[in-house]
Amino acid sequence: MKDISLENLMDIIVRSLNQMDAQLTGHGERVAYCMVHLLEKNPQFSDEEICKITWIVLLHDIGNFHDIGISDLVKKEYNTDFSHARYGYLFLKYFSPFAEYAPLVLFHHSSHDRVDASSMSEKLKWVTKCLQIFDTTDLYHIRHPQITKQALLNYLKRLSTIIFSEEAIETIEQLAVQSPDNSLPFSLPPQEEIHEFLLKRLKRMDVTEHEEELLLRTLVNSIDFRSHYTAIHCNIMVHVSDLLARLCGLDEKTCRSVHLGALLHDLGKISIPLRILESNGKLEGADWVVMQAHVNITEHILQGKVSDEVLQIAIRHHETLDGKGYPYGLSSQDLTLPQRIVSVADIVSALSEQRSYKAPFTFEKILSILDEMCANGKICPHVVGILKENREIVYQEIQTASTRAMGIYERIQKEYNELGDAQIE
Ligand SMILES: [Fe+2]
Ligand SMILES: [Fe+2]
Ligand SMILES: [Fe+2]
Ligand SMILES: [Fe+2]
Repeated sequence: MKDISLENLMDIIVRSLNQMDAQLTGHGERVAYCMVHLLEKNPQFSDEEICKITWIVLLHDIGNFHDIGISDLVKKEYNTDFSHARYGYLFLKYFSPFAEYAPLVLFHHSSHDRVDASSMSEKLKWVTKCLQIFDTTDLYHIRHPQITKQALLNYLKRLSTIIFSEEAIETIEQLAVQSPDNSLPFSLPPQEEIHEFLLKRLKRMDVTEHEEELLLRTLVNSIDFRSHYTAIHCNIMVHVSDLLARLCGLDEKTCRSVHLGALLHDLGKISIPLRILESNGKLEGADWVVMQAHVNITEHILQGKVSDEVLQIAIRHHETLDGKGYPYGLSSQDLTLPQRIVSVADIVSALSEQRSYKAPFTFEKILSILDEMCANGKICPHVVGILKENREIVYQEIQTASTRAMGIYERIQKEYNELGDAQIE
């Protein structure tokens, strides 16, 4: 049984994408909406294929997470920046369940010639060219909200010597909310209608529990990858949480809640500027307030979309038993065993990783910090006791998880550099 419905899964992804840049809110959904209409007219595409492509199109700008904080992401998109296409492709290729469609994202800003020269199938080349047109249209519309349908079509036709797909332009023509004389600004249906339409479409293909996990991991990893220092954080955190939950004897359902809460606990870091994530010293003043807000953003993204148990596990990882944690200053009587486990796992994970202000700590040093935190009434002595009783297994788990996660991180960085803009422009 899956813990997250398809509707909630889609909402978590869309809400996270919408944190990227206010102007790009709804962009992925609008582009996916146009794409579905186009693909449904083409008998070459099966129902299942259309759903998989729709998930990928929804996520086509996920590589932009890497550049959050850049003052004008829309302008950057509009000027066909290629770094997010390379990162987005690699995240989708390495983590998503529909990796075979990741090349669409790699080439979504490339020239017509470059798409033709790629090793994609003819079918995917055509989808890529159509994706470019829908993407360009939406970006143009964001920058020129008052444009009429006719002016927009003229713009696309002018572009058509560079990127051309008659069918895609026809689809836009048909989807534009009709005004009798084309004199009103171009618009697609309201965003809620687009959302409902996509949801209905995506429901035509069942997403398995494994695929759901991979989609969430694509999202989480792309956020962690924003900084070299946090690149493997959630991976270690999830492994340690899973292990501690089992060692503490939690039942299967609660173990699953711990797993999901741990996986999603830092989603809100999506909105924290890199400058703060990578700060050299102890954060203070306004920067510390901004950093703490990542938990509130996680809450905003997950609210109503996961069970209350999962939500509370995710958003209480910085609460402490003495009531001096954040965001709500809860204390020992409020914090359940699963929440205490995830809080300890978060600390263990952060201490075992390199940060801008510190090298990874040895396991002995981590254990002594945990002891000190127990003595100061911060974290749960019962959980730390169990961790210490099983120190060999926990140590092995951290080693395995970090070697594996670091390996993928380095492979992605290497491939990113090898790909180079020159190969996809
Ligand atoms: Fe893009
Ligand atoms: Fe885009
Ligand atoms: Fe956190
Ligand atoms: Fe964390």
